[in-house]
Amino acid sequence: MGNAWFETVAEAQRRARRRLPKGVYGALIAGSESGVTAEDNTAAFAELGFAPRTAGLVNERRLATTVMGQEVSMPVLISPTGVQAVHPDGEVAVARAAASRGVAMGLSSFASKPVEEVVGANPKTFFQIYWVGTREEMAARMRRARRAGAVGLIVTLDWSFAYGRDWGSPFIPERIDFEALRRYVPQVMLKPRWLWEFAKTRRLPDLTVPNMAAAPGVPGPTFLGAYREWSQSPMPSWDDVAWLREQWGDAPFMLKGVMRVDEAERAVDAGVTAISVSNHGGNNLDGTPASIRALPAIAEAVGDRVEVLLDGGIRRGSDVAKALALGAQAVMIGRAYLWGLAANGQAGVENVLDLVRDGLGSALVGLGRGSIGDLRREDLVVPPGFERRLGTVGPDGPLRAVPAAAAFAPSTPGR
Ligand SMILES: Cc1cc2nc3c(=O)[nH]c(=O)nc-3n(C[C@H](O)[C@H](O)[C@H](O)COP(=O)(O)O)c2cc1C
Repeated sequence: MGNAWFETVAEAQRRARRRLPKGVYGALIAGSESGVTAEDNTAAFAELGFAPRTAGLVNERRLATTVMGQEVSMPVLISPTGVQAVHPDGEVAVARAAASRGVAMGLSSFASKPVEEVVGANPKTFFQIYWVGTREEMAARMRRARRAGAVGLIVTLDWSFAYGRDWGSPFIPERIDFEALRRYVPQVMLKPRWLWEFAKTRRLPDLTVPNMAAAPGVPGPTFLGAYREWSQSPMPSWDDVAWLREQWGDAPFMLKGVMRVDEAERAVDAGVTAISVSNHGGNNLDGTPASIRALPAIAEAVGDRVEVLLDGGIRRGSDVAKALALGAQAVMIGRAYLWGLAANGQAGVENVLDLVRDGLGSALVGLGRGSIGDLRREDLVVPPGFERRLGTVGPDGPLRAVPAAAAFAPSTPGR
């Protein structure tokens, strides 16, 4: 299928839109409220320029690194996403693609495939959990993930249960029943190729989340059931973060969704291995600045004590170079691989990873850097007022001035 190859992530997105029923595509786009944060995540990358070199360029492109104890071929990880029904092989296809490209996999606890199968496809799998249910239930889920061979834990706490999008939210059924079919059939019938992928497997899209169960084989709740339980769980405290850390043992542990310098410091105190500077891809509190704007201050504050990753808005390899030049050790991608998966299954995710790798390599060449470790802020043109320092400086320090969010464009995310 030579013509299945796509040359940019933007093309993967166009194909995903063409292929998927409207509601499923809408679930991938996500975003919240007016979409300014989702929009700013990508707009901010476009504001950053490069300062290229023209002579004395090097041929080398050393991209390999170590993240959370795993040797990876490039500083790009699969960010955990809880979307199902995009492709029948779902997270297993993504894990296989990541493994074939030497990339680590983040697996959502709201994923559609069991952690045992995903680790089987990619031993470099980090299991992601939310704070849902009782401590006993969470401990059981962590034990199950460890037993399955997950090599790290990603804890995601940034979620405020805001719903309502100015452009409308997709309908997500509890299960595929008559009512769901009635509401979905008109849009599904317009997308026969998507339907055919599922028809071949003789299974309907599965809307349960198997990793919320304490043991393999025990039926998990539905996605909406798990979401309801999550929204009713008490909000976690920093003591709870420390408890999770302790339960997970000494294996690598990431806190995802840190945007403030003071919280990055607290994460260090809680004993994390890594943080991801992230606003949940703009799906959480709308009005939060782009994660790349918050990165430099956080990397400067804690970058010598924990691994600092970034996610949000990465659409090409040059975005990865920009994040590394501003202090990230690695990045995680979300929508980019979801679009690849929707466009062409496992091969589509491999396609996206290849594009990101090649783009990062090209950026290194253009900047005259032979290795990702050589990237520096001076390789970039950072416009005045680009950065946002969020939070207090020290435990009792004053709140530093946060520049007005002038860069927010009042439009909806690219759809
Ligand atoms: C459709 C969708 C589902 C997501 N589900 C999860 C999830 O289950 N757990 C999690 O930690 N993050 C989740 N995220 C956030 C991603 O891990 C990541 O932070 C974000 O997508 C990065 O931004 P990007 O999509 O611009 O690359 C989700 C994001 C999207 C778009």
